[in-house]
Formats: sequence, structure tokens, C-alpha cells
Amino acid sequence: MVSSIQEELILSNKKSWDEVAPRFFGRTALPTYGPFAPLENDLNLFGEVSKLNVLDVGCGSGHSLEYMASRGVSELWGIDLSETQLEAAQKLLKTHEAILRLFQGPMEQDPGLPNNYFDIVYSIYAIGWTVDLKKTLQNIYNYLKPGGLFIFSWEHPLHNRIKYERDSFVVKKSYHEEGLHQCEAWNIPAMMNQIKLSTYINELIQTGFQIERVVEEVVIPEQAELENPMRWYSVEKATFIPPTFIIKSSKPQK
Ligand SMILES: C[S@@+](CC[C@H](N)C(=O)[O-])C[C@H]1O[C@@H](n2cnc3c(N)ncnc32)[C@H](O)[C@@H]1O
Repeated sequence: MVSSIQEELILSNKKSWDEVAPRFFGRTALPTYGPFAPLENDLNLFGEVSKLNVLDVGCGSGHSLEYMASRGVSELWGIDLSETQLEAAQKLLKTHEAILRLFQGPMEQDPGLPNNYFDIVYSIYAIGWTVDLKKTLQNIYNYLKPGGLFIFSWEHPLHNRIKYERDSFVVKKSYHEEGLHQCEAWNIPAMMNQIKLSTYINELIQTGFQIERVVEEVVIPEQAELENPMRWYSVEKATFIPPTFIIKSSKPQK
């Protein structure tokens, strides 16, 4: 159960996501993990996925699920807060209807998904929207089979702490400060969770996960031109700090 304050925040985020969903159609999806991150084609964190059951947490418009379908998974499951996103995902994945199960709801609450069922749970650029990391990780742990993988990506928690001002990058906010905050880039209510890398790692360990790999590498495309360094994601900034991080973890065999 989430608290009534958390419920209010989730409802407000849902309203906002329903509104902005069309702008995010296929924006961040596998094989892309996030801005300037190496691709899954190069990292191969998932390994062989054919005939596996996968669950996408914060599946959005369904483009990562489409990628999983192209790699021959057995069952495609997704959960997302936004009805508008899920309508888009349902349309995108209509040829895979027979193996598709989509659920509307917050990742912090189990909508009745099977426990010990999934070979892989993953989340691409969605986890930082959780209003309760502990509950979210506990749900994911329960959904996974022993030996299953949980792989997720999100914006690196240093990225929004540093801004470009008068020819330099400067630290504008403390890295130590964590918690819910209004998403700076949006002008409608949208509460995101600022969580340090060590907190993600420690919460995963406390939930029972084993950390397999943490990725902070940055890939700058060869033809990339220097652009406006004030942009939220810029080549200049990516040369100093990783815009994206990825964590691969597993639920140990009993
Ligand atoms: C950037 S999109 C993710 C893109 C998606 N992973 C893909 O592969 O196309 C972030 C998603 O998180 C969803 N979201 C936000 N808060 C959520 C929550 N508390 N529980 C579940 N989904 C949430 C949003 O509705 C949105 O679809």
C-alpha cells in the first residue's frame, strides 16, 4: 500500500503523463538505454532472450517491448501509469497481441502480477518517477524467478546538479540532497525522485538483489558536433559527466 500523500502524487503524475505522452512516443527505448549511453547491441546485458518472459516497468509507448518481441521473447508484459501511453503501446504491439499483457497502474503497487514468474524485468528511463523506491524494488524482486535479471536505466543523478553558466559547468545543487522534486524541464506538475547512485545500489542489495554491473560509460557519436551546451543533454556536458547510468542486477538462486 502507498500512503495517501504518495497516492496524490501518483495521480498528479498520471494526469501529466497522459497529457505529455504523445511527445514521448518512442523517445527512449531499447536498444537505447538513454542519452549518450552505450547501446544494448554493444553491452549485451540481456544476453539471449528468446523464449523468456519479460516485464517492462514504465513501458511507455511500448517501443522497448517491440524490441523484445523482435528478439523472440515468449511473453511481453508491461506496466505503466499512463493510459495514453498504454493505448499507444497497444496499437504499436497489435501484431503481438497473443503474447501481450499490459497493466495500467503505478510501479509502486502490484496490480496482481504473478510472483516468481519473469526471467527478466527491465525499466528504461522510468524508475526515477517512483515515489517509493523500496516498494518498487520489492515488487520487482517478487515478480522475478530466482536467477532472473533486473536491468534498468535512468538519468545519472549528477546530471541535473550541474549546469552551464558563463563558459563553464558549475555545480548548482548538492549531490547529497535526495527526495521528490518538481521536474525542472516540465511546466506542469510532475514529481520525480532524486536518488543517489549509492542509494540505488544499497536499496537493491537490501531488497536481496545481487549487483552484476553498473554502467556509466558515455558514447559520443563520431560525427557529433558541438552544440548549445545549455541544452539539457549536450555533447559538451556528456564529456564531463555521464547523462545516463544503467544497473544490471539479479535475484539470486535459492
Ligand atoms: C520516458 S517514459 C519510458 C519509455 C519506455 N520505457 C519505452 O521503452 O518506450 C517514462 C514512463 O514512465 C511512466 N511512469 C511515470 N511514473 C510511473 C509510475 N509511478 N509507475 C509506472 N509508470 C510510471 C510514464 O507514464 C512514462 O510512460
